[in-house]
Amino acid sequence: MILKVSNLSKSFPIENMEPQQVLKNIDLTIDNGEFVSIMGASGSGKSTLLYTISGMTQPTSGTVEFAGENLSNLSEEELTNLRLGKIGFVFQQANLLKNFSLIDNVTLSAYLGKKESKLKIDQRAKQLMKQAGVSEIATKDITQASGGQLQRVSICRALINQPEIIFGDEPTGALNSNSAADIMKLFNEVNQTGKTILLVTHDAKIASQTERILYMSDGEIIAERYLGKMTDSSQLKEREEKVAEWLKVLEF
Ligand SMILES: Nc1ncnc2c1ncn2[C@@H]1O[C@H](COP(=O)(O)OP(=O)(O)O)[C@@H](O)[C@H]1O
Ligand SMILES: [Mg+2]
Repeated sequence: MILKVSNLSKSFPIENMEPQQVLKNIDLTIDNGEFVSIMGASGSGKSTLLYTISGMTQPTSGTVEFAGENLSNLSEEELTNLRLGKIGFVFQQANLLKNFSLIDNVTLSAYLGKKESKLKIDQRAKQLMKQAGVSEIATKDITQASGGQLQRVSICRALINQPEIIFGDEPTGALNSNSAADIMKLFNEVNQTGKTILLVTHDAKIASQTERILYMSDGEIIAERYLGKMTDSSQLKEREEKVAEWLKVLEF
């Protein structure tokens, strides 16, 4: 088990009103190597859940254990190291730096970590970019790449410090369906190397490609569907039909 979330709640204060409870007593465990997606309507708390379990924000109550360690027991410095080394994050927008080449965007956080030689980091960046199909644009900048390519670079950036888990907040949300399919193929390959992946998506087609789908409504996980790992893209249609039926009932 890589993540154990117990009785997790998160509230945001609202002026002159009761605080808004955005996460309500969530229990969740994620096993090592799982590929999980989180669905649910806009505003149901998906992003807040992701940010809270990845240590980016603090819960109001409850605990998050990452690889056996309770995040609330960690100092600010330990949390920063955890976020830098053990967790990779991919957002809807790639948010790459414009005055750096794409490969420099990938290597930057590893250079800052100062744990390895630049040579070693560069080699790993090249390898990752090759695997992601963006090595031919490594020395270009963000103005010279498509949205799908930029997102592939941001996945390389998330992987450079060899994290154990990758979180994605609608990582295909800004892409056309072809680019989204490429990104999912890449995530699937990354998952096959043993990394745990947790993706927020509102796209049933994306969720259908993951091993397990959690469904959030109003701050709670109200349903979950285990599909098993997708081992061949020929299974996609059948999986999509299953998920569509499941969602029809949930969203009724
Ligand atoms: N920093 C914040 N301050 C106040 N309210 C917030 C904050 N972040 C999120 N919320 C509220 O929490 C609810 C859930 O938001 P969010 O987690 O972004 O949902 P989702 O990702 O499912 O669309 C929304 O009502 C949103 O307005
Ligand atoms: Mg969101």
